[in-house]
Amino acid sequence: MPTLGFPPRIPLAHTPTPLHLLPRVSEALGVRVWVKRDDLTGSALTGNKVRKLEFCLAQARAQGCDALVTCGGLQSNHCRATALAGARLGLRVRLVLRGEEGAGTADGNLFLDYLAGAEVTTFPLAEYRSNLQGLLQDAARSLEAEGLSPFVIPTGASDGIGIWGYLGAVDELANDFAAAGIEPSHIVSATGSGGTQAGLSLGAWLKGWQAKVVGFAVCDNEAYFQNKVRADMREWQQRFGGICEGVAEVDVEAVPVSVDDRFIGPGYARADAGVFDLIRWLAANEGIVLDPVYTGKAFYGLWQTLERGEWPDARDVVFVHTGGIFGTFAQREQFAF
Ligand SMILES: Cc1ncc(COP(=O)(O)O)c(C=O)c1O
Repeated sequence: MPTLGFPPRIPLAHTPTPLHLLPRVSEALGVRVWVKRDDLTGSALTGNKVRKLEFCLAQARAQGCDALVTCGGLQSNHCRATALAGARLGLRVRLVLRGEEGAGTADGNLFLDYLAGAEVTTFPLAEYRSNLQGLLQDAARSLEAEGLSPFVIPTGASDGIGIWGYLGAVDELANDFAAAGIEPSHIVSATGSGGTQAGLSLGAWLKGWQAKVVGFAVCDNEAYFQNKVRADMREWQQRFGGICEGVAEVDVEAVPVSVDDRFIGPGYARADAGVFDLIRWLAANEGIVLDPVYTGKAFYGLWQTLERGEWPDARDVVFVHTGGIFGTFAQREQFAF
């Protein structure tokens, strides 16, 4: 397997993040379950997006850009991370958000977007869905009209650039596994726009690990993510094949991609009571806070899968905690205290 030469990155994430055992979860499920604490990549500028943004913003800087444009839901963790990262680097940030904001009710991630000084524009669901590219272009053009040079980051920073974030995380995991003396059977994360899974799947395959990388989908179905994750890998190869050592030699078509879409529940950002109960249980029993949009759903999927004995070969299972705590605040009324 080729050794990869990484492109430039701007250090933003506090890494390496810890890997540790979840003793009460492991006891309850009869399988050792570990957590990779990517919810600790920072305080407000935190979660999985920070790893991706390190590479996206390095590209932006290399192209001489002085503004960022990106998009997502009103409670997008990615947009909040971009808003804060942009503020840190002195870049203007314009966010194209899906949904309509109630007056004076900015909470969770949206609250932090405003705090970070991002320019927030919101669009009704139908318009956002049918014309996202147009909305991003409009945002970029209006910044250009002000004499700025914007860099557009796609949803979730999931593209051929963002993949590097979780390729880097896999190098970290290799050290974590060696230090813990484990060879995991499964590596699990939430899949929302596909980039985290693309990086983890590609990285684990390049390392020759036995571990199966499983993404629990939180919005779209398996077929969608099979395409999306593969498309990100192809774009990565196209973009970096002639620039970064080892990339051209990778057979991206051979990388296994495993998506489980059975636990999406009522829809994106909407979860069943079982997810909220589990979030509460995990906070009370392991001191770890998940969110109802991504990590809570993925952990619920993992729990159900292990409890039903669907992974008889499960040995050491690693859950990548991708962050998202601010989205939990925005759904506080769903918790029955
Ligand atoms: C907290 C959190 N976890 C997981 C994900 C999913 O990661 P990805 O978009 O790379 O699939 C996201 C974003 O979509 C997220 O904000």
